[in-house]
Amino acid sequence: MVEAHDAVDVIRAKRDGGEVPEEALRWMVDAYTRGYVMDAQMSAFAMAVLLNGMTRGEIRVMTDAMIASGERMSFAGLGKPTVDKHSTGGVGDKITLPLAPLVAAFGVAVPQLSGRGLGHTGGTLDKLESIQGWTAALSNDELFEQLREVGAVICAAGSGLAPADKKLYALRDVTGTVEAIPLIASSIMSKKIAEGTDSLVLDVKFGSGAFMRDVEKARELARTMVELGTDSGVATTALLTDMNTPLGLAIGNANEVRESVEVLDGGGPADVVELTVALAREMLALAGQPDADVEGALRDGRAMDVWREMIRAQDGDPDAALPEPHETHTVTADADGYLTRLDALPFGIAAWRLGAGRARAEDPVMHAAGIDLHAKPGDRITAGQPLFTLLGHDATRFERALSALDGAWEIGAEAPPATPLVLERITD
Ligand code: URA
Repeated sequence: MVEAHDAVDVIRAKRDGGEVPEEALRWMVDAYTRGYVMDAQMSAFAMAVLLNGMTRGEIRVMTDAMIASGERMSFAGLGKPTVDKHSTGGVGDKITLPLAPLVAAFGVAVPQLSGRGLGHTGGTLDKLESIQGWTAALSNDELFEQLREVGAVICAAGSGLAPADKKLYALRDVTGTVEAIPLIASSIMSKKIAEGTDSLVLDVKFGSGAFMRDVEKARELARTMVELGTDSGVATTALLTDMNTPLGLAIGNANEVRESVEVLDGGGPADVVELTVALAREMLALAGQPDADVEGALRDGRAMDVWREMIRAQDGDPDAALPEPHETHTVTADADGYLTRLDALPFGIAAWRLGAGRARAEDPVMHAAGIDLHAKPGDRITAGQPLFTLLGHDATRFERALSALDGAWEIGAEAPPATPLVLERITD
């Protein structure tokens, strides 16, 4: 335990726009985790941060203090570089599934410690649990062994990483302080740095289906996290990517696994392939392979071989049939023209209402539930053509899903202007 400070002094310093001295900030995080600083005091501090921000130095100290609250993993001794990816989350974002085996196909270790979905953004573990037998729970020894043998691991993050963040995040959730960029950055990066990766690529999304709707705020978050990674000795790059439209054609769990396997088989929707390849290039560049033939590894089956090994190593059967929905409902176009808009957020909410996501952490998900899209913005449409299909086990949910989708897409006479999927690359 660091030397005691006064929580009220720390709150006042931040309230008045000052910089909190390093030792006092470390003490504040440590004392809060141990229960000496009250929730009310930490809430006031979080609100002061939301209103007045933090310096680059303060954000680094805050992150470091949260890392120090728990276990810190190390992959030294693995004999290969480690590189991780973090996405701020979006609708149809299944990129981790093809990306981890693709990057591992180049001899790099990819430890993807992931979470479950809550609300309209899906969770990587929920998607993989659609695969018969697959298990998310690995001990640290099993994780290490799989990284050595297979190269890619997607598994549940242990609860020992950054427990201070867990407590603070729950408090922010009920005090209107989730949106503070220094707190988001330190929350995400404390967990990633504690994981012990050598380097990290961030997919920071903006737009209707993203955590940060506003591109300026997403850019600020990306810059803050890249600086933080660099200051903490983790080589970090970020891509700023568009999440106004769902990624790919599948939103759900089992259907997202199916689409990921298509990408690993050299096919799949163009946007999913583009983002997978862009992130793989960044990860491999950080791991010392800037010229790796990423598309080649998708075409010639090397990435697929690693996928199959990765699934088998966690007791999954890569050849087993994926769960199918008992009920479907297809919505068709009512006019000729171009699909000009397909709004990510309502499609995420609709998939969630169909049972693909959960409202409370303890709820189960229905792996076969979700939405298959048949068209994307820019596609030419004729009246009567299927636009999307709702998938579920329970047709009574279709009405609530459809009500979320009211006004969520548009057909117009002109093709919409093309917008880039990857808007910017951010480095320190
Ligand atoms: N995700 C996190 O892990 N932390 C935040 O603060 C926001 C999103």
